[in-house]
Amino acid sequence: MKDFVFYNPTQIVFGEGKTSEIGKYLQGKKCLFLYGSGSIKRNGIYERVVESLKKHDVKFVEKSGVKPNPVLSFVYEAIDTARKEQVDCILAVGGGSVIDTAKAVAAGFYYNGDVWDFFVDKAKITKALPIYVVLTLSATASEMNSGAVITNESTKQKFNIQAVSLFPKVSILDPTNTYTVPQNQVANGSVDAIVHLLEGYFTKSYPNTPIQDGFVETLVRTIIATTKKILENPKDYDARANFMWSATLALNGLTTAGIGNYEFPNHMMGHSLSALYDIAHGASLSIVFPAWLKYNESNISERLANFGKAVFNKTNSKDTITAFEEYFHEIGAPIRLKEVNIDKTDIDKIAENAVSLATKWHLKTYTKEVIAKILELAA
Ligand code: NZQ
Ligand code: ZN
Repeated sequence: MKDFVFYNPTQIVFGEGKTSEIGKYLQGKKCLFLYGSGSIKRNGIYERVVESLKKHDVKFVEKSGVKPNPVLSFVYEAIDTARKEQVDCILAVGGGSVIDTAKAVAAGFYYNGDVWDFFVDKAKITKALPIYVVLTLSATASEMNSGAVITNESTKQKFNIQAVSLFPKVSILDPTNTYTVPQNQVANGSVDAIVHLLEGYFTKSYPNTPIQDGFVETLVRTIIATTKKILENPKDYDARANFMWSATLALNGLTTAGIGNYEFPNHMMGHSLSALYDIAHGASLSIVFPAWLKYNESNISERLANFGKAVFNKTNSKDTITAFEEYFHEIGAPIRLKEVNIDKTDIDKIAENAVSLATKWHLKTYTKEVIAKILELAA
């Protein structure tokens, strides 16, 4: 086991009906209540949240319209609103896009310069408004981590920030809130959570990590099994609950603590697909991940075979990669660029874009040429 510090201060309140408790945690506060394009109004979550806020005398100002692959221009607007209204916290009701927007606004609120400075490492986040979450879509684990990803529309960069002050204070995880998540978003979430687990699993520097390997294999098995159940029956409570908690644990620091150095190359490439073509994050990963496995197969063949044995009942690396592709296809996730209408003549442009994130993340081996070779395997 490698040395590590594990710190995760987010309070998780998990269970059916817990949405109605959100007001209790915000008593005496004035929040900026952020949400997306209106699914929470159609499925009743909005009403439950507002009722709870009123019951506990919480003041709030609403701002809706966060879009998937959330953008910097919206973050600027929301910072303005938060300042004008002098709020003292942010309530995010939604999936990763809403939570990430909340985090960027929380960090930008106290900063005199351009909030984008944090994303390009020109400034460090030292202070942020407290963030509270009612999760409506399981995928990113943003509800229990300190990261956020925002797209700068003018520079076409999808970049991240990370800071201890961005851990949500409280996140409500009510599995029934996810009953209305559409099938394609269930698939996106499934792929995202799986790739979160496997980036570390396949790139870690320390070999002997039985606890972390076991966590990852169990979580991936659970995600695959529950995804299939959810697609068959969207109101299967236990499937939604197990999927929800698995996705949260997939990127809350638990499975990477003690594995030594690790990298997130699939996210680096996937973010460029979303930045340039606005495709869903999960879809970007189901395209890039099998290609990345193929490119690296000779270096990780034993790991791939072990994983295949533990999760897919396969015995070699090739069959394990095929099993990933088959699973992604089965749940309706794309595995080739052409399935999302990206022509292979664009590969150079995508690689050029990805290299800037590779540089930010110190992924030294990922030159433009290497990235292009990986993407060729997804053409
Ligand atoms: O806009 P609304 O109405 O909310 O609809 C959303 C959106 O259209 C819909 N939705 C959410 N909950 C629903 C629902 N529809 C029906 N019923 C519900 N209960 O789903 C759509 C997608 O939502 P979004 O928040 O974009 O999805 P997700 O949670 O997958 O978030 C993706 C974003 O998070 C980033 C991604 O890059 C992407 O920008 N990530 C954040 C990470 C983090 N902070 O740790 C890590 C990840 O690797 C990822 O990069
Ligand atoms: Zn992800």
